[in-house]
Amino acid sequence: MIDSGTGRRVALGAVALAAALWMASGSASTLAGSTAASSDVARGEYLVTITGCNDCHTPFKMGPNGPEPDMSRMLSGHPENVPLEPLPQVDPAAAWNWGGHSVGNAFIGAFGVSVARNLTPDRETGLGAWSEAQFVKAIRTGQHLGIDSGRPILPPMPWPSYARMTDEDLHALWVYLRSIPAIRNAAPQSIPVPPPPAPAL
Ligand code: HEC
Repeated sequence: MIDSGTGRRVALGAVALAAALWMASGSASTLAGSTAASSDVARGEYLVTITGCNDCHTPFKMGPNGPEPDMSRMLSGHPENVPLEPLPQVDPAAAWNWGGHSVGNAFIGAFGVSVARNLTPDRETGLGAWSEAQFVKAIRTGQHLGIDSGRPILPPMPWPSYARMTDEDLHALWVYLRSIPAIRNAAPQSIPVPPPPAPAL
């Protein structure tokens, strides 16, 4: 299992910093439109930090006190060069019935295998080709890719909590995710259980 205590301590430091940055920029947010846009980015960074997106979407590396988020690969999802296989056996009926990959971005349980995706603006492997409406719909409805025919987004992605964010906060999240460095990383696909029905031919 993952000891994310260190990650949390790192995250708390980052919360304080992000909060300070946000408060500093917030005071200027009523001035010009461009200032408002940059305060959206700061607000989004603050939200990403306090809502734990990095805990699942940023790969862990070994630090002096154990695993910690590798911010040089921030929000890039499960690394493509770290295979998921061999998958552990999980008995959904047992008392201990789910677990996580040591790199921190993949989970297994009764829901199948759930792999945190790349949230950076890379066009092919991240959210670069997504629209803001698609992002908002995915978070609000829990539909994969924000499309009606999409499968449900799997646990432990806490979309039911994030679905309650205000429109402004979801917009700020999106604007921030657009502003971070694009990282090319094709995270493996999740494997839902039961598998989705085959598309009609
Ligand atoms: C507890 C772990 C966890 C946290 C925290 C988390 N995610 Fe996720 N996220 C996941 C996993 C796992 C998936 C893959 C789910 C799937 O494939 O069905 C995912 C998928 C996604 C997706 C793709 C949804 C889709 O259409 O398939 C988006 C967008 C996303 N997360 C954004 C975020 C944002 C933004 C945050 C922070 C506000 C966040 N996540 C926090 C675990 C997490």
